[in-house]
Amino acid sequence: MTDAAVHAVNPGPDRPVRLSGRQISKSFGPAQVLFDVSIDLHAGEVHALLGENGAGKSTLVKILSGYHQPTGGELVLDNASVSFADSEAGEKHGVILIHQELNLAEQLTVEENIFLGREIKRGWFLDKAAMRAETARLMDQLQCDIDPRTRIRDLPVSDRQMVEIAKALSKKADILILDEPTAVLTGREVDILFDQIRRLREQGVAILYISHKLDEIKTLADRVTVLRDGRHIVTQPVADLEKDDMARLMVGRDIRQMFPERAVPDHADVVLSVRGLSVTGAVRDASFDLRRGEVLGFAGIVGAGRTALMEAIIGLRDRESGEIARNGAPVSIRSLQDAKKCGIAYLTKDRKGSGLLLNMDMRPNLTLLALEKFGRILIDRKAEEAALEKAIEAFDIRAADPKTKVGDFSGGNQQKLLLAKVMETDPDIVIIDEPTRGIDIGTKSQIYHFIGDLTNRGKSVILLSSEMPEMLGLSDRIAVMAAGHITGILEGNDRNEHEIMRHATGISGKQGVSVHE
Ligand SMILES: Nc1ncnc2c1ncn2[C@@H]1O[C@H](COP(=O)(O)OP(=O)(O)OP(=O)(O)O)[C@@H](O)[C@H]1O
Ligand SMILES: [Mg+2]
Repeated sequence: MTDAAVHAVNPGPDRPVRLSGRQISKSFGPAQVLFDVSIDLHAGEVHALLGENGAGKSTLVKILSGYHQPTGGELVLDNASVSFADSEAGEKHGVILIHQELNLAEQLTVEENIFLGREIKRGWFLDKAAMRAETARLMDQLQCDIDPRTRIRDLPVSDRQMVEIAKALSKKADILILDEPTAVLTGREVDILFDQIRRLREQGVAILYISHKLDEIKTLADRVTVLRDGRHIVTQPVADLEKDDMARLMVGRDIRQMFPERAVPDHADVVLSVRGLSVTGAVRDASFDLRRGEVLGFAGIVGAGRTALMEAIIGLRDRESGEIARNGAPVSIRSLQDAKKCGIAYLTKDRKGSGLLLNMDMRPNLTLLALEKFGRILIDRKAEEAALEKAIEAFDIRAADPKTKVGDFSGGNQQKLLLAKVMETDPDIVIIDEPTRGIDIGTKSQIYHFIGDLTNRGKSVILLSSEMPEMLGLSDRIAVMAAGHITGILEGNDRNEHEIMRHATGISGKQGVSVHE
């Protein structure tokens, strides 16, 4: 190792270690998920934590911040051994964790959430004006146009994440831990978040950052620690690692070809056609065809109306006008049940609101949507178990123990379970919104190959994604939306980032609508 590298790994007395985990172990019942993991967080550094789904990242940061107690090892804060009885104790010592799965009270407003449990008071009374003003200031700092009085349940998931970030900022962290904060954010929001993180780094805050997006790690982080199967693999300066190196360290092997080879779909064989579909305030006059065996991508900036259009197609939203046909015959879809009867399945991007039964284990979750397959009155447990085994294998769902409550699954494994659940209904057409959110790079490629297999078997996929490589790597054609309109459907050589951006930003002479997704 060169001198420079040594210096970077040990940033020196001017950047002291603030918080360390030393030989941390953790078991849940009989299942051990962390083995002797050590990590140092220095003042003024962004330290990235990498690992496959289920590697133990969230568990480690929950221990560092007091949400969980380790079963072995110790925490050291400013050179003194500490233990945090709970997360409040952690916060009192300046350790703030932004959770992977959002932790807001949905029925409360933005300002109530930000000050929950630490309300500003004047004498005996709540100082609502002060809390509102402080919330507005935080929103301003994050360049978010969110009214402090909005209820969380009325906000899209990216705004909710920004509220979480505002809440953490308001707590004045010394050690700030972010568990996959950008999984649900848009590009613009990511930029804003990164500015804030860099500002905090300059102020000497120690930052621990979890993400599956290796580009982010490259641009943001100073050092990176990789976990695999609950064990510490390496800690190195980011400058010494290429993205491929990081992926290999995480997965422990080379990753096969990222995207699948696919047959070219037949142009004449249209399985779904949508004509003149409008949704009040969200979508104007959208028309497109989906072909058998095709992946049709839908691109656009947030608020362009993509989700609203899909929700209108599957009966989750009222349509103002428009016709839908399956295999050339008109259909009337007024509910998710109708959509299912028409062979259309939908995977939302909102994991929490997606109907996973968090208090139950995997089996009822998997078979919930397709119960009739397993007997209408008496459920055929054997068939269920067989389906479960197949799904675990097909989607590589990793739970320490199959009886683990789904709420305790790692984020990526919840996402895989959702995919498996949707597939249990054996749909002809799958509409997928952000299929690989929070998914590690190895599993991502598995999911891409899964989508490839689907289309090779004659199924069709509508893909909504904010990840450009995914959009370009999977889609046969890409429909672009802007301000409620489909502004272009790109094929062949036009399927490139430049054309997508051009259509996503210009609305080519059409009258836009103001959009509420
Ligand atoms: N409360 C719990 N009870 C039982 N098992 C748990 C609990 N919390 C986590 N686990 C298990 O610990 C293992 C590690 O999970 P963890 O959430 O730390 O993974 P992760 O690295 O954050 O993954 P991801 O990238 O998918 O978020 C998983 O097998 C998970 O099922
Ligand atoms: Mg996690």
